[in-house]
Amino acid sequence: LRVAVLFGGRSTEHAVSVLSATNVMKALDPARYAAAPIFVTRDGRWLMSRFASGALSTPETGTEICLLPGGHGRMLAIGPDGRAVEAGQIDILFPVLHGLHGEDGSVQGMADVARVPLAGCGILGSATALDKVIAKQLLRASGLPVARSITIRQGAVPDLATLESTIGLPFFLKPARQGSSVGVRKISGSQEFPPAVAEGFRHDSRLLAEQCITGREIECSVLDDATGALFVSRPGEIVPSANHGFYSYDAKYIDAGGAVLTVPADLPREVEARLRAIAAEAFRALGCDGMARVDFFLTADMTIVVNEVNTIPGFTDISMYPMAMEASGVRYAEIIERLIAHGLA
Ligand code: DAL
Ligand code: MG
Repeated sequence: LRVAVLFGGRSTEHAVSVLSATNVMKALDPARYAAAPIFVTRDGRWLMSRFASGALSTPETGTEICLLPGGHGRMLAIGPDGRAVEAGQIDILFPVLHGLHGEDGSVQGMADVARVPLAGCGILGSATALDKVIAKQLLRASGLPVARSITIRQGAVPDLATLESTIGLPFFLKPARQGSSVGVRKISGSQEFPPAVAEGFRHDSRLLAEQCITGREIECSVLDDATGALFVSRPGEIVPSANHGFYSYDAKYIDAGGAVLTVPADLPREVEARLRAIAAEAFRALGCDGMARVDFFLTADMTIVVNEVNTIPGFTDISMYPMAMEASGVRYAEIIERLIAHGLA
């Protein structure tokens, strides 16, 4: 089975994707799968990559690849002379791209147009989950517990007093469609607000101002198997170090001591059961299939709040998705196998 692992990409999480895809490559059983890694450059070109000595190559130039519409996985390679040659057939597309232009339904739509099976979440769930504004509306409409929030559009920014009266202070300001906390700011006063708005609009035309929930950060991994039954992992907990204040991009990937992951999280059985049930409901509410990681806050009085859903969660060495699965009895290679089986079903 030829599996095309698509990684890199145009989003701000390009570097995170390279780390995630490296682990996916390591977990693909060579006896069962022929992996074809395809590197997506920061400007969006698809180039043949290679996996050697545990590392993926990230070329900036080379043979460009395209997937033929209606081609059932047929690929063409465009050489430096501009001539197209057959580049073989893939059996399934496995996007390991985080954020826009990869986790948002775009590549998932491309798989559909190419008529090639897709590993992971499809078009609808990818698009709804990546957009924090839309996801919030769907989760709320499904009766799931979410933080209070206000959508901010360019040219119609409410003043701080209006926001404070609705969602309180401090609050978070997040671009609608970013991952790994890129562009996210915590606002505690009037001085921080204008630069945070400017920073947010650098990343998207809509922002979500969201009530700051004080609580523990808990995450569950959800895996949809070929039968349509959902497997929800035991919850894991992220404890950001005190100097980061929240689980920011730096706490996630730059600062080695930025956060500690406790898997499974130390929780009363009844709370764990509720978290797992709500994770499945959130997955369904957004129209997800394949996989997703559902992120929560848990307050001191054990109130559960759904924070967000990530349909291509991080697979880096410090990422929760595979760790929570492992703690629930599903090994790395088995996650990949089940995702491929789901895509082929
Ligand atoms: N967006 C990052 C990769 C995550 O959710 O894990
Ligand atoms: Mg998250």
